[in-house]
Amino acid sequence: MDLLEAIQQRRSTRAFLDKPVERETLERLLLLATQAPSAINMQPWEIAVVSGEERQRLSRLLVKRMRERRISCGPGATKRLPEVVVERQRELLRCIQPTLDEGTDFNDFINEGSCNFYGAPTAIILTVDEAFSSARFTDIGLVVGYLVLAAHGMGLGTCPIGLITAFEDDIREYLNLPEEKKVVVGVAVGYRDEASPINRSRSSRAPLKEVVRWRE
Ligand SMILES: Cc1cc2nc3c(=O)[nH]c(=O)nc-3n(C[C@H](O)[C@H](O)[C@H](O)COP(=O)(O)O)c2cc1C
Repeated sequence: MDLLEAIQQRRSTRAFLDKPVERETLERLLLLATQAPSAINMQPWEIAVVSGEERQRLSRLLVKRMRERRISCGPGATKRLPEVVVERQRELLRCIQPTLDEGTDFNDFINEGSCNFYGAPTAIILTVDEAFSSARFTDIGLVVGYLVLAAHGMGLGTCPIGLITAFEDDIREYLNLPEEKKVVVGVAVGYRDEASPINRSRSSRAPLKEVVRWRE
């Protein structure tokens, strides 16, 4: 598949087929993802791959914690966000809500769905050692960017899951990781359920004039 086509086509997958992704396929995907550039080639990412029954066990734990602690997906902002950004969040809701079963609340769907990795057979969890500065989150972002595009090129669907950072301690314990590892993001990986309406919804992007400042 052409790279530019993949960039244009890719959208997050929120319904997956009940079909495992083979180990060799995941290895190929991770080999491609880790071709991402990183500052001084430090490759600060650490990657855990959780599949099958283990993925379900992890999700049961996350859903339990989400309900106990009433965790909900949000922008994670420390200050009030500009209206234009808030409107982009509303646009995502307007894009997804019509694809949900009647009576399904958008936030409940996203919260439960995220903890369940939307039923994907594999969850990839990216962590970074706290010895690195927060600037290295950029590197993790790049590897996730490569991962979602490579997956698309390989016929796989993905959805980045930032909500899991709310359960950092639980995930660390689950993965048997020491305290100095920070959970940055998860990615649901699997085969797309093409029949599901949610996978046909396409979020839009702000026009360039809203996000680019030219100086020439
Ligand atoms: C860092 C990051 C965290 C995200 N976290 C979640 C999440 O927790 N749950 C979810 O459903 N989608 C999550 N997403 C997916 C975004 O909602 C999605 O990328 C965005 O709406 C744009 O849609 P698209 O991926 O279909 O182009 C996340 C995306 C990124 C990049």
